[in-house]
Amino acid sequence: MDPKWYKELFENMGIEYEDYPFTKDTETEVAWMVKEYLTSPEMKILDVGCGTGRHAINLATKGYKNITGIDLSPGMIGAANKVAKEQNVQVDFRVCDARELPFQNEFDAALCLCEGAFSLLENDAENYKVLKAVHQSLKKNGIFILTTLNLFREGKFDPMTCRIETEIEITQKDGQRKTLKCSDRSYTFPELKWVLEQHGFKVISGANPFSKEPIQHGTFEFMVVSTKL
Ligand SMILES: C[S@@+](CC[C@H](N)C(=O)[O-])C[C@H]1O[C@@H](n2cnc3c(N)ncnc32)[C@H](O)[C@@H]1O
Repeated sequence: MDPKWYKELFENMGIEYEDYPFTKDTETEVAWMVKEYLTSPEMKILDVGCGTGRHAINLATKGYKNITGIDLSPGMIGAANKVAKEQNVQVDFRVCDARELPFQNEFDAALCLCEGAFSLLENDAENYKVLKAVHQSLKKNGIFILTTLNLFREGKFDPMTCRIETEIEITQKDGQRKTLKCSDRSYTFPELKWVLEQHGFKVISGANPFSKEPIQHGTFEFMVVSTKL
């Protein structure tokens, strides 16, 4: 397996990413975040691993004017810019690695949703670099909304790493089909809470995604909301 499988996967995808069923609840997800945490359209918000920009663009359509979306994949950022143009909204989309964010104490909130870099990367040290970079980018008391993979679900996890290997069929830009081996990291809430605390965050909620319900067995992801200390 190429440890950077995620780079190849998303670079070969683009807007077709939004055919996946898990991308279909953007409106509800954004409405929930606006109600609970992103309460003012003046807020400066960073969407980390924004993909096709579905959350960033939806926020912009609601009048949020200070949205930045970053993603490793030029293809995903290209798709995001195209949709933003079609919808006539302004979002600062940039190709950027979430481990190397060029911001210092700038944002009121950061989103990292649906494996936006965090949990995809090749080992714990690389994933933790994302937390460090997000922390550096946020203002003091800035909000960090993260969803990540739930270890308490069906799957053959490697007990040594809490990772699971899967295969996905992709169509490359030249039309060739390819089987890509993927590996991502799943978490328990207590582990991630501890890790976030070690990176200078105060955890204020652990819940099923976009809700305040306790995390359940079997759900694919859970959500952790924290603030920068
Ligand atoms: C599953 S998509 C999630 C996209 C979006 N957040 C959403 O909710 O639909 C994961 C995204 O993370 C991006 N990504 C992976 N590694 C990254 C990295 N190191 N830095 C920035 N983006 C990364 C991928 O290119 C991809 O667009």
